[in-house]
Amino acid sequence: MSISINTIREMKQKSEKFAMLTAYDYTTAQIVDAVGVPLILVGDSLGMVVLGYDSTIPVTMGDMLHHTKAVVRGVKNAIVVGDMPFMSYQISNKEALRNATRFIQEGGAKAVKLEGGVNVAKTISKITGSGIPVMGHIGLTPQYIHQLGGFKIQGKSLEAARRLLQDAMALEEAGAFAVVLETVPSALAEYITQSIDIPTIGIGAGCGCDGQVQVISDILGQFPDFVPKHAKQYAKLADAMSKAITDYQIEVRNGIFPTDEQSFPMDESILEKLKKQN
Ligand code: KIV
Repeated sequence: MSISINTIREMKQKSEKFAMLTAYDYTTAQIVDAVGVPLILVGDSLGMVVLGYDSTIPVTMGDMLHHTKAVVRGVKNAIVVGDMPFMSYQISNKEALRNATRFIQEGGAKAVKLEGGVNVAKTISKITGSGIPVMGHIGLTPQYIHQLGGFKIQGKSLEAARRLLQDAMALEEAGAFAVVLETVPSALAEYITQSIDIPTIGIGAGCGCDGQVQVISDILGQFPDFVPKHAKQYAKLADAMSKAITDYQIEVRNGIFPTDEQSFPMDESILEKLKKQN
């Protein structure tokens, strides 16, 4: 059954926890959707895990639309959320609305996500008021990394915790249907979750949130050298890939691959005629 933002809201009301995962391509999106994950985020984290940048700052609308379209083609049920990249919503509300519209009209996403709290509440009102569902994102917001001074836990002091709570309330007031809480102390995330009616989706924010989100490459173990503290590896895909590629190369070098099973036969008489003609 196709999922809507109302389904997600109802899950909070029924205290049903849910998972969200990132996906950046058609085949991965198909798998994530087929197992019933209700929310698929085409995160701007693709800048780091797919495109090889060292932050999400260089990611463009062009990059995001390209990957959103691929993901949407692989999804039948889940809500695909397009992550608005750096400076696609900060310059003016008009530009924000235009770019959010592109995610829906060109990309085929059903919602957009943008980073920030009180500072982007008016922008979110404008977008939700135009019929586009918006997911907020507060706490450690990677697009603000130069201002935050690094990937640090957010909301630890009384003042910072109060600001985060105000941000979450401002997002709800602006019409956001859910809010991501990234790298926030668990107890604060739980308190924010209890203080607002829209679902919270945690990443490095403990189990008191309504949902959880992870970057798919982290849970699949595609980066053996770096496992973020908030992630758990459910597979070791990098090791499995490395072994498969090594085996393939060994078999090619030794003439073991391909065999008849992977090859196409031909009528021998035709080949004989060809040889005679030349
Ligand atoms: O870009 C992303 O993948 C994200 C998630 C970590 C929430 O914003």
